[in-house]
Amino acid sequence: MKIISHRGASGYAPENTLKAFRLAVEMGSRDFEFDVHRTKDGILVVHHDFSLKATAGKDIRIADLTYAELRQFNVAAYFKHDKAPQRVPRLEEVIDVIGPGAGWLNFEVKNDANVYPGIEEKLLAFLRSKPGLFEKALVSSFDQGTLKRFRERCPQLKLAYLGHNLSAILLLPALKLARAVGAVNFHLAMRIAFRLNVSRIKKAGLRVCVYTVNTRKDALRLQKMGVDGIFTNYPDILGKWELKG
Ligand code: G3P
Ligand code: MG
Repeated sequence: MKIISHRGASGYAPENTLKAFRLAVEMGSRDFEFDVHRTKDGILVVHHDFSLKATAGKDIRIADLTYAELRQFNVAAYFKHDKAPQRVPRLEEVIDVIGPGAGWLNFEVKNDANVYPGIEEKLLAFLRSKPGLFEKALVSSFDQGTLKRFRERCPQLKLAYLGHNLSAILLLPALKLARAVGAVNFHLAMRIAFRLNVSRIKKAGLRVCVYTVNTRKDALRLQKMGVDGIFTNYPDILGKWELKG
């Protein structure tokens, strides 16, 4: 089972910052997840929400800022363990920190209602700009239109389906949508990560990764269930000796 650092080692350092990614690398992570947005002047950046409210305390949208403006904000302002200033990193900076030794790089593209038109081309060009990056990339999005556009533009790209507010009842229709875009992975919320759902997804031929798993007990339970990976804010959640597969 893969242990995927979720927004870096975000239990220990402010999420989606270079500090969180450096720490994850130091902790031995090989697999990473991070959220991708685009600034007003077209720079791909890594941050969770569309606005800076939860991280910097400012209700301003990334889409409305140039990268130079965005760099002014401290996105560690609300992190409970460490408030030393951190900036929203460019995607390229994140990849420079984690890319070389990485296994999986999960680019979660936040693009609800196509708020960043053309982000698909931009990310594809970036993936092709560095040797070996395209092969490690796994692109996911809560937005089905975004997944569709990625697929239309690139048949070889590995895609992961992410179901927004997915309930167990909606799993079968969601599997249809995942198949429709040729997804290889299905990323499932912990609250519906039951044995039956996991086995249904696996039977459909997709790998299952569960988010967000922050206790050792849940990690061990999901490993036993046969999930392929867990997204965690604590990359040291399990010892190496406990990991199978
Ligand atoms: O990609 C898995 C997970 O990160 C999806 O939810 O809201 O944490 O980006 P969220
Ligand atoms: Mg995410």
